[in-house]
Order: sequence, then structure tokens, then C-alpha cells
Amino acid sequence: MPSVIALVDSILVSISSFHNVLYDVRRMKRTAILDEQSAMESVSLQPEKKRRKVQPSLSINLEYVNRIIGWLGNNEISTIGIHGMGGIGKTTLAIELYTRLSNHDIPSSDDNYASAWVSVGIDFTVFQLQQKIASAFGIDFQDDKDVIRRASILNAFLSGLGKYILFLDDLWGDFRPEDVGIPRQCKLILISRLLDVFRILRCQKILKIETRSEEETWQVFQHCIGHGVSNLKEVPSCKKLVYHKCAGLPLAIITLANNMRGVVDASRWREFLEIMDPIQNIDVFSRLKLSYERLNNIKLQRCFLYSALYLKDKSLVSREELIRLWIGKRLINDVPSLQAQFDMGHSILNKLLNSCLLETCQDNKNIKMHDLVRRLAISILRDSNMVKTCIPSKWEL
Ligand SMILES: Nc1ncnc2c1ncn2[C@@H]1O[C@H](COP(=O)(O)OP(=O)(O)OP(=O)(O)O)[C@@H](O)[C@H]1O
Ligand SMILES: [Mg+2]
Repeated sequence: MPSVIALVDSILVSISSFHNVLYDVRRMKRTAILDEQSAMESVSLQPEKKRRKVQPSLSINLEYVNRIIGWLGNNEISTIGIHGMGGIGKTTLAIELYTRLSNHDIPSSDDNYASAWVSVGIDFTVFQLQQKIASAFGIDFQDDKDVIRRASILNAFLSGLGKYILFLDDLWGDFRPEDVGIPRQCKLILISRLLDVFRILRCQKILKIETRSEEETWQVFQHCIGHGVSNLKEVPSCKKLVYHKCAGLPLAIITLANNMRGVVDASRWREFLEIMDPIQNIDVFSRLKLSYERLNNIKLQRCFLYSALYLKDKSLVSREELIRLWIGKRLINDVPSLQAQFDMGHSILNKLLNSCLLETCQDNKNIKMHDLVRRLAISILRDSNMVKTCIPSKWEL
């Protein structure tokens, strides 16, 4: 008998909480409809706090901006990914887009999208993601801790909003949009270093941000350092050196420029550029190292470090050559057959490519490593115990 009472009790509790959800959802919907004006205001106002002001000094690649705007105008496309290695300018580009959308500064578009910005970060949970999205839209869960109820509140609110774009920056893992409460018709712009995240979240379009050319590197550098640089007679050699040191990575270019701002004597420029190595900067080092740490797997990490040593004297290797090297160095030795070792090698290689620690060349056959990533690997090897066990004596660091 007591168990029957408990059963009836639990059914009553479920019915009442279901009613609460319906009530909350209806109330949220009513608020969204009645207060459409203020709801829309809160959508564009709330993320303003998080919005970084786009500096006039930024040299944004308009081709990227236009490509994404084109995709946004296509009703068939709802999920877009912005991809690239750490410090390449993903967030900067996304902020530029977000700002243009918030200011309705999209010339070719008839649509007025509301937009919201959420920085997701490492090791998030569905609960935390819901919280961040809710606060970007000014939604109050009223202390409701139940993820399912929160998902249905979020879903109802967002479904009543009309056209909007949700930016999710700094994504290090996937999630199911329906678990969070993101409706199917929501336009999502996802920003991540990890290609797998886009695959799992079914991005229909992925924009890969490439490193800057020598000319573009110089433009970013000049913009950051300020006026007067272009008049220096040392420009041609400085231009080459800046490109060489930063390998086209905006994070490194900006770091270099910030460090050189105080150097006024033109003759000291070359000297400074020659000794300066952006990877020695703690911000550049720790941001790039994050991709290495997030591999979370010693085998992957070792294969990556070995690749850096091997690629030191070569700019490119074929997939097979690299995998053979790993097998030869016994980095993949816990599977029975050579075929299994090769299969595992391909899977490791794909993971390193997905994390932007290795890159494919345009021909899609050869593998290369970004120069700063290689310098990062060498630096990790120098500082770690692996230096004794990993590095053959013929390789000089
Ligand atoms: N187009 C640009 N013009 C000038 N500076 C830029 C540009 N893009 C990026 N930067 C500078 O490079 C730095 C790194 O950019 P950003 O934070 O956008 O990289 P990211 O790809 O988002 O990196 P992460 O993967 O670490 O999040 C920024 O501090 C920014 O100042
Ligand atoms: Mg970023």
C-alpha cells in the first residue's frame, strides 16, 4: 500500500511540475509577444556588455565577412562554423560580424537579425550553457535548476523571437542543441579551433581562417604600431623579419607590435626584431599551448612533438612518411599488426589536423606545421622531461 501511495504521489508531483513548465513557458511566450519591443531591446542590449569595441585599427578581411553574410541570407543554412588555429582572429572576425548585425550594418541584406553573443569556454555543461544563453537574452530561469525545464523555457522564448543569430565563441566541445533548448530554426555561428565540433554540430558551412600573407602581416603590424612606420628606410627588411617571426599569425603580430611601440630609434628596429621571438611571450605561448594540452592524450602529444622535430628541416611531409616515422619511433606500438598501426597513425594524424596543430597543404596530400606551433613544440620539449627520452642526439633544438 505505501508503494501505491508513493507512486500516486510521484505522478502528482510530475503533473504539477509539468504544469509549472507549461505555465512558465506560456508566461515566457506571453512576455515575449506583449513585450516584443523590450524583448528585442534586451537581445541587442544584453550582449553589449560583452561586446568588445571593434578598433578602427583592425584590418578585417572583408572577403570573410561577405562570405558569412551571404550564407546568413540563405534560408537553407542555419549553422555556420568559424575555424582556425589559436590567435588567428576567429573571435575578432566574429565580433566584427556581431557588431555589424547589431548595428544593422549589413548593406546587401534586407533582414534585420537580432544577435546575441555567448563565450562558452572550456569544460562547459549544458546547465552552464543554458545560463549563459539566458543571460545574453535577459531571460530569468527564476532559480529553476532542472535542465529539461530550462531547455523548454529557452526554446519557447527563442522560438518567439523571430530572426536572430546566436554566436557561440570559444567552443571546445559539442552538445545537442535540443538539450540546451536552442530551437531548430535558430541561426548559429560557432567559433572553434576544433573541426570535430563543427562536424558533430552539423555545420553546413565552415569558414577556415588562414594565416596572413607578408603584405597583410605588415598591414596589421602597421595598424597596431601607429603612424610613421611606412617612412622608415628599414621597412623592406623589417617587413620580412616581422613576417618571418610571426608567420602570419595576428596574435603574434599584435604582440610584436605592442612590444615595439616604445622603440623609437629606427636603427634599433632591426636589432629588436632579430632577438624577439613571439612564442616567448606568455600570452602567445599559453594560448597556443592550450591546443596541445586539450589533446588530453600522451600518445597524441608525443606524435605531435615528434612531428615538430621532423618538420624542423623540412617544410612538408606526406601523411605516410609522418606515420612511418611515428611507427619507427615506437610511438604507435600497442596494436598487433602493421596495418593496425597505420590505421591508428591516420586517426592520430586526423586528430592533430582537427586541432590545427598540423595543417594540410593545398594539394591535400602533404602535411605541414605552422612555424609558431613548431616553435611551441620545441619549447615544450626543451622544458619537459621528454627532452631526455624523445630527442635523438642528431636533432638540435
Ligand atoms: N584582423 C585583425 N586585425 C588586427 N588584429 C587582429 C585581427 N585579428 C586578430 N587580431 C589580433 O590578434 C589577437 C588574436 O585574435 P583572436 O582573439 O580573434 O584570435 P582567435 O582565433 O579567436 O584565438 P583563440 O583560438 O585563442 O580564441 C587579438 O588580440 C587581436 O587583437
Ligand atoms: Mg577566440
